[in-house]
Amino acid sequence: MPYNRNILCIGAGYVGGPTMAMIAHQCPDYRVTVVDINPERIAAWNSDELPIYEPGLDEIVRAVRGKNLFFSTDVEQGIRENDIIFVSVNTPTKTFGVGAGMAADLQYWEKTARQILQYAQTPKIVIEKSTLPVKTAQAMESILRHTGNGIWFEVLSNPEFLAEGSAIRDLTNPDRVLIGSRETKSGLLARQILVDIYASWVPRERILTSNIWSSELSKLVSNAFLAQRISSINAISALCEKTEADVEEVARAVGMDSRIGPKFLNASIGFGGSCFKKDILNLVYLCRHYGLDDVAAYWESVVRINEYQQERFMGTMLTAMFNTLAGKRICLFGFAFKANTGDTRESPAIFIARRLMEEKAEVVITDPQALKNARVDLNDTAGNVRYVADPYEAAAGCHAIAVLTEWDLYRKLDYRRIYESMEQPAFLFDGRNILDHQGCFDLGFNVFPLGKPPLKHF
Ligand code: UDX
Ligand code: UDX
Repeated sequence: MPYNRNILCIGAGYVGGPTMAMIAHQCPDYRVTVVDINPERIAAWNSDELPIYEPGLDEIVRAVRGKNLFFSTDVEQGIRENDIIFVSVNTPTKTFGVGAGMAADLQYWEKTARQILQYAQTPKIVIEKSTLPVKTAQAMESILRHTGNGIWFEVLSNPEFLAEGSAIRDLTNPDRVLIGSRETKSGLLARQILVDIYASWVPRERILTSNIWSSELSKLVSNAFLAQRISSINAISALCEKTEADVEEVARAVGMDSRIGPKFLNASIGFGGSCFKKDILNLVYLCRHYGLDDVAAYWESVVRINEYQQERFMGTMLTAMFNTLAGKRICLFGFAFKANTGDTRESPAIFIARRLMEEKAEVVITDPQALKNARVDLNDTAGNVRYVADPYEAAAGCHAIAVLTEWDLYRKLDYRRIYESMEQPAFLFDGRNILDHQGCFDLGFNVFPLGKPPLKHF
């Protein structure tokens, strides 16, 4: 059966995989191919055990894989056979040279652009899905257009706003889809082709179009604003602990102001994930590049508060447990950067586990999805660390539990049973404020929530 359109995505990661599965699912007359240079990842996408955990993803992939969704390592063939190419390769923070620790490392992106140029025999629409610094499209256009092979390339920006753990819901029912293009005749034509793909399932009024630079910048700014809310409430959690205010009560009161809104006001051990820190640092770098040092300092402070909050959590544990953690066994409930994902990129749990080991504590890690990644994240540490799938087994014999990820599972455990299996006095540090603090205190735990007075038996 001939397909209406042939779509390629380069990069089968957390973004490329679910996004393409959704397009294939919603557009049965489009053929969608996802390629990646990593053969293991592609093999996993073609197997019963997908390379990423995301609620609802298995069902969608199973429904369309082999029909109009295909996973392959053949990048060359993919480029030749498809006219619409999404690029969602990773754009990590640079670790070397100019802008190290701040700017985005665009080497994979540029390499991909050059591959497209090398293999393309017909005109292509190239769509930036990865988060990129503003004006990347210009660099891509320069690579693609000024080489004299006569093939037309139109570069669009279509940033991804899905959040891990709710990716399928976000893709099915997005707040908005943003498509940026050049405002030339060919740019507007390419823009319309992409609008038509999304219009298969997204109401037209939620598909925003803009110039390409606004689109690129909007992604960075959305992530910066979301992260800023978390740093704001986390900063206030420190003040609450000094004043006997309760950060949840404050967040509720503040969030009921319709101008502020209730979301993203949960105090935590800090934000993690592959995007927030990277994108803010990228924004900071851009501001500095344009001489806007005060603006850069403003956004940089969002990252600084995030680091402060993680160190503060460590400080609370240390002080509460009589200023020494050496030889104490601490159980980490959760290692993923948030619930409902196995992803641990930039998870505050990595920092806390390492700091605990520096203090010579024994660390026991439990998590329903992230133990495999946790092992990789900590494989260079010489400290005493164990990985235990069952939370009861993990907590047994420990001096303290620190809740680091807000998995629903941890709300429902039998804390009496856990308390009785632990060393006494038993401590509970709730870095996500998800437990019944008074209930746990009544069982005998010394409870340290975030941004609220502790409940201690001594
Ligand atoms: C996300 C976002 O897309 C991006 O904006 C952000 O910069 C990084 O995080 P994500 O899907 O989470 O990307 O990244 P990842 O899971 O690392 O997937 C990227 C994939 O691209 C990997 O599977 C990698 O093997 C592949 N890749 C990388 C290529 O196929 N070719 C390359 O040249 C480089
Ligand atoms: C984020 C953006 O939400 C998404 O739009 C973008 O495409 C990619 O980056 P993601 O990183 O997957 O998504 O998850 P998100 O739900 O935003 O959470 C990020 C971090 O903030 C997590 O560590 C989470 O636990 C933390 N968080 C979130 C809080 O600490 N408090 C909150 O109130 C909300």
